Amino acid sequence: MASMIARSARIATVTGIRHVARIGAISATTTTTTTTARLARPSSAMNKTATRFFSVSRIARDDQPRLRLGSTAPNFKAETTEGAIDFHEFIGDSWTILFSHPADFTPVCTTELGAFAKLQPEFAARNTKLIGLSANGLESHADWIKDIEEVSTGGTKFNFPIIADADRKVAYLYDMVDHQDLANVDKAGVAFTIRSVFIIDPNKKIRLTLAYPASTGRNTAEVLRVLDSLQTGDKAGVTTPINWVPGEDVIVPPSVSDEAAAAKFGEFKAVKPYLRFTKYPEQILKK
Ligand code: BEZ
Repeated sequence: MASMIARSARIATVTGIRHVARIGAISATTTTTTTTARLARPSSAMNKTATRFFSVSRIARDDQPRLRLGSTAPNFKAETTEGAIDFHEFIGDSWTILFSHPADFTPVCTTELGAFAKLQPEFAARNTKLIGLSANGLESHADWIKDIEEVSTGGTKFNFPIIADADRKVAYLYDMVDHQDLANVDKAGVAFTIRSVFIIDPNKKIRLTLAYPASTGRNTAEVLRVLDSLQTGDKAGVTTPINWVPGEDVIVPPSVSDEAAAAKFGEFKAVKPYLRFTKYPEQILKK
């Protein structure tokens, strides 16, 4: 029975929001039930005590999906500050940056959202959508956005949706909670860390994952740089070296023979037989 319930919980976590109520029903007579039901409660209820979440963490540790590079980004439906979305429909034919926050009105996160809003035109120019997530409701998000516009967008109107994930369902679906799960909360009951970044491609595959501590603001330029590297690599069949930025030489991957490299790129420089550089493939990228 226990393994059946664990399996049911896993299915629900992977397939998303609609199934949570069903799980509660399945496990209604068990200890697991109680914990599963708590998982679906809004964060205001969660903030009351840290200790009641100990059993939630047991579920989370076993059942959060292990998302890896190349995994299909789990689909979900959610309310956002720009309306309800089906995540895969939202992605459509674009690249997507999904990044998350444990709570509204947190200082580091306030600076990050403003910085992403300022850089949004650069992402849009790369056929890339931004979407934030924070573990509070829509009303709170709307108030927070006013603060973000006041203090950290530099006059830019806030320009992308933030998912309202008050019950942390999406945070669990994307394995965003740290190893101590919901037992690890600060004095205000904010769960650590839910500070992840995912780059997802138009095929809905996860291409980058980053997890940040609460204390360290993210680096928007680095997110943009990785996006440029991935898009360059996909289009030109190259890889990019340490600290690369667009315009700099790229690497011919080992899967390409010298003959094929000469045919495709013209000149290349072999520093070692396995380390070959060629010029930024501008012509290929323009096609
Ligand atoms: C922040 O400063 O953004 C923050 C504070 C507590 C937890 C996570 C983030």
